Amino acid sequence: MAASRLLFFLALFTAGISFSFSETDPRDDVYFGGTAAALQSLKDVWKNTPPTWHKSDDPCVDWEGVTCSNSRVTALGLSTMGLKGQLSGDIGGLTELRSLDLSYNPDLTGILTPRLGDLQNLNILILAGCGFSGDIPDELGNLAELSFLALNSNQLSGRIPPSLGKLSKLYWLDLAENQLTGPIPVSTSTTPGLNQLLKAKHFHFNKNKLSGPIPDRLFSPDMVLIHVLFDGNRLTGEIPGSLGQVQTLEVLRLDRNALSGEIPSNLSNLVNLNELNLANNKLTGPLPDLSQMKILNYVDLSNNTFAPSTAPLWFSTLPSLTTLVMEHGALEGPLPSRVFSFPQIQQVLLKNNAFNGTLNMGDSVGTELQLVDLQNNQISSVTLTTAYTNTLVLVGNPVCSALSNTNYCQLQQRSTKPYSTSLANCGGKTCPPEQKLSPQSCECSFPYEGTLYFRAPSFKDITNVNLFHSLEMSLWVKLELTPGSISLQNPFFNVDDYLQVQLALFPSAGKYFNRTEIQRIGFDLSNQTYKPPKEFGPYYFIASPYPFPASWAPSGKDSGGAPQLKGARWFSYDELKKSTHNFSENNEIGSGGYGKVYRGMLADGQVVAIKRAQQGSMQGGLEFKTEIELLSRVHHKNLVGLVGFCFEQGEQMLVYEFMANGTLRESLSGKSGIHLDWKRRLRVALGSARGLTYLHELANPPIIHRDVKSTNILLDENLTAKVADFGLSKLVSDSSKGHVSTQVKGTLNDDEYYGLREIMDTSIRNLGNLTGFGRFLDLAMQCVEESASDRPTMSEVVKAIETILQFDGINTSSTTSASSSATDFGASRSSTLRHPYSDPVPRKDANVSADAFDYSGGYSHSAKVEPK
Ligand SMILES: *[C@@H]1O[C@H](CO)[C@@H](O)[C@H](O)[C@H]1NC(C)=O
Ligand SMILES: *[C@@H]1O[C@H](CO)[C@@H](O)[C@H](O)[C@H]1NC(C)=O
Ligand SMILES: *[C@@H]1O[C@H](CO)[C@@H](O)[C@H](O)[C@H]1NC(C)=O
Ligand SMILES: *[C@@H]1O[C@H](CO)[C@@H](O)[C@H](O)[C@H]1NC(C)=O
Ligand SMILES: *[C@@H]1O[C@H](CO)[C@@H](O)[C@H](O)[C@H]1NC(C)=O
Ligand SMILES: *[C@@H]1O[C@H](CO)[C@@H](O)[C@H](O)[C@H]1NC(C)=O
Ligand SMILES: *[C@@H]1O[C@H](CO)[C@@H](O)[C@H](O)[C@H]1NC(C)=O
Ligand SMILES: *[C@@H]1O[C@H](CO)[C@@H](O)[C@H](O)[C@H]1NC(C)=O
Ligand SMILES: *[C@@H]1O[C@H](CO)[C@@H](O)[C@H](O)[C@H]1NC(C)=O
Ligand SMILES: *[C@@H]1O[C@H](CO)[C@@H](O)[C@H](O)[C@H]1NC(C)=O
Ligand SMILES: *[C@@H]1O[C@H](CO)[C@@H](O)[C@H](O)[C@H]1NC(C)=O
Repeated sequence: MAASRLLFFLALFTAGISFSFSETDPRDDVYFGGTAAALQSLKDVWKNTPPTWHKSDDPCVDWEGVTCSNSRVTALGLSTMGLKGQLSGDIGGLTELRSLDLSYNPDLTGILTPRLGDLQNLNILILAGCGFSGDIPDELGNLAELSFLALNSNQLSGRIPPSLGKLSKLYWLDLAENQLTGPIPVSTSTTPGLNQLLKAKHFHFNKNKLSGPIPDRLFSPDMVLIHVLFDGNRLTGEIPGSLGQVQTLEVLRLDRNALSGEIPSNLSNLVNLNELNLANNKLTGPLPDLSQMKILNYVDLSNNTFAPSTAPLWFSTLPSLTTLVMEHGALEGPLPSRVFSFPQIQQVLLKNNAFNGTLNMGDSVGTELQLVDLQNNQISSVTLTTAYTNTLVLVGNPVCSALSNTNYCQLQQRSTKPYSTSLANCGGKTCPPEQKLSPQSCECSFPYEGTLYFRAPSFKDITNVNLFHSLEMSLWVKLELTPGSISLQNPFFNVDDYLQVQLALFPSAGKYFNRTEIQRIGFDLSNQTYKPPKEFGPYYFIASPYPFPASWAPSGKDSGGAPQLKGARWFSYDELKKSTHNFSENNEIGSGGYGKVYRGMLADGQVVAIKRAQQGSMQGGLEFKTEIELLSRVHHKNLVGLVGFCFEQGEQMLVYEFMANGTLRESLSGKSGIHLDWKRRLRVALGSARGLTYLHELANPPIIHRDVKSTNILLDENLTAKVADFGLSKLVSDSSKGHVSTQVKGTLNDDEYYGLREIMDTSIRNLGNLTGFGRFLDLAMQCVEESASDRPTMSEVVKAIETILQFDGINTSSTTSASSSATDFGASRSSTLRHPYSDPVPRKDANVSADAFDYSGGYSHSAKVEPK
């Protein structure tokens, strides 16, 4: 019977092997053997690929970050994975790829392979925040389907290839923060150019070394640009009048260049502008007329060489202004009070001009006004108003020469602090290194962190609680995080005049985000799927590396080879410590040579049993990994499941479901209303000598049990079928890599096996208290010793059982005829009787791979077993 079961088993294995290889579509064999092969070869050159990539040979089967359709790779999303290496030409083999996001992997370096141009179906290409260098390949111009191209924040150099002008579907073009040089290419009779990008809404070329004039030809009325960010380059010449034809423009940043000449009058046509920043150029002539820009929020014309003039009319007519900046503006005469009365005005920064006469801010000062900086002007007197009590700086004006002690003649008056998410509710709790306190739960965990750069916020006031609260809320809502599990810290306007904010996102449960979540959040931010409140304007995000839990394999090339842990969760040491009240004695439910078992309660209320290895009984990293890998695959309604594990801070712990009806011990002591199913209990005890041994207290009917005379572990038919669902074929293909091998150490003996079971069944059935049950378990453990010579013979077992029963005052004569005493059995064994919790320390012998297999309750099979 058992043999036939085993045969069934074997059949499964064989079937498994036959389909263990790549299932991707063979039609993909365009370059290097198809998409699977292309990704395999990328895997080989990249370090830190997700552990699941080492689990299966088929990228379309459970590789994190890989999306397939019809067995072809269509999306690769590996944001913030800590990838290291180069982008090899093999990427070109992923011909069905539609979306490629490698953002925020700063250790991805080297050149951008021209073979990116082979990805004819590519729609989204995001390489932001990596370490790529060299030229942008011309071949990117072949990506006819491309709509989103983000190459920002790398070290790319050379020119912007004119071929990008062929990307007729492009709506997002971000080349910012590189080392790009040369002109902005426009089309000629023979070459394409960026003026052809009629679908483009975003030209983000800021912070490069682009030079030459902004071509007049670049802009046309057919364009739909909303953000033109050319700031921080070396652009020269005049601002082209054609820019005034792009009526859709909302943000125009040309600041920090070397633009000269007069501002074209055409610019005043840009009635949809929210932000205009022309600061730090060499612009001359009269100030532009902005009076038609009724929704202009933010204007900065500082540090040019405009002709001296009085305050332009629009100082008094732009109702939406939040921020007016014109330092070194050559402004003179009186400063109109109207500018202080706009409903949204926050900051008026006009230092180093020549405003003179009396400053009168008027009686209807805007309620948002925080800062008026008029340093180094010619103001000789001030009419103070009770309507304004925030900061006014007049240092360097004649009015201060006599009144230097007055508040407005001092710097450093500001008392309000920049916004930061409050942790006040957490009572000053501190966290271990790398962890941070979630403002929502006040728990320490590993947040996903990075910096948000807002390239053109419509405001300047970084103390505005409401604005930042709205940012927080939009983040947790749109990134699907637990409400409040977000922290914003230290906002400030940096030297580039970008609003920079430290962002930390906290996992909803547990200490860590998993890779899938990190990839998702990273993509939401890199693909601009997340949109901040409108006031924050265009942004980009740069993630900090995420500290994923240490990987499994102890060493070697294949060090990313962590197991795929279906359902098994990583627990941090701190989490388990907390769940067991610091591993308190009260929580102990068992102990033995290997360590102790604790009852614990997780944050979500789940009660678990935690087996904690003590120093000296730790397994090697690989063995522990293998054990978890196998245990986590075994799912059965009647078998206690592995919930997770902890492998950090020098600890090895396994976390199991805890049976709701109490432990065996409690059952024995009558606490849980007796009627133990002894048969089941014994079968648990027979589980295995290692990995599953401690399950005896936890499992109800065990489904895995070991044959008495061999080291084979048998599965009930029911579990066998279940396990098949979980992919035994995978196990076998793993074993082909040498991780796990199988070996039959004995032969089956049905009679003995079932004999034992029957004895137990009939003898123990319907008993009340059974003080000898512990000894049953000890006996059972003897039966599953690793070495056959350490296991009792069948007659010894029978004797032992009789003795135990007699000790309990039970009449055994009806079930057995043996009569010798139990001491024979106990004394005849060199090894001490082990309580089932005391599963032995794994042996470091030459057959370690076989051990690694069977101690985990795995599935032995033999090619030699013949059906009976
Ligand atoms: C300025 O804009 C008008 C209309 O928008 C257009 O006709 C004219 O050609 C533009 N001037 C320049 C120099 O582009
Ligand atoms: C104007 O130039 C000065 C001196 O270079 C600089 O300190 C200041 O930040 C500039 N102002 C603005 C608004 O860019
Ligand atoms: C203010 O400056 C303007 C232009 O420089 C000058 O004409 C005017 O007399 C000055 N007014 C005062 C009160 O100094
Ligand atoms: C990652 O975490 C999310 C949310 O907690 C969960 O829904 C998802 O199943 C996890 N994915 C993996 C592969 O563990
Ligand atoms: C990427 O962003 C674009 C526009 O922001 C959006 O339409 C698209 O759905 C996003 N892609 C995904 C997969 O979210
Ligand atoms: C937990 O136990 C360790 C020693 O076992 C002790 O040093 C530590 O203070 C305890 N922590 C708490 C919170 O009880
Ligand atoms: C616990 O015992 C009760 C009553 O015997 C039973 O209905 C229930 O299913 C048991 N729960 C588990 C998890 O075994
Ligand atoms: C397997 O499951 C079936 C249906 O649930 C049940 O009748 C049968 O007894 C089970 N077999 C074993 C060996 O537990
Ligand atoms: C079981 O043990 C308890 C306490 O030791 C005792 O009160 C009870 O009578 C016993 N029951 C049987 C059936 O022996
Ligand atoms: C044990 O059981 C046998 C058979 O049922 C019976 O003859 C004998 O009297 C019993 N002995 C005791 C001590 O109960
Ligand atoms: C390993 O297994 C083989 C085959 O069963 C056996 O011959 C050998 O003695 C074993 N080695 C050790 C160290 O146990």
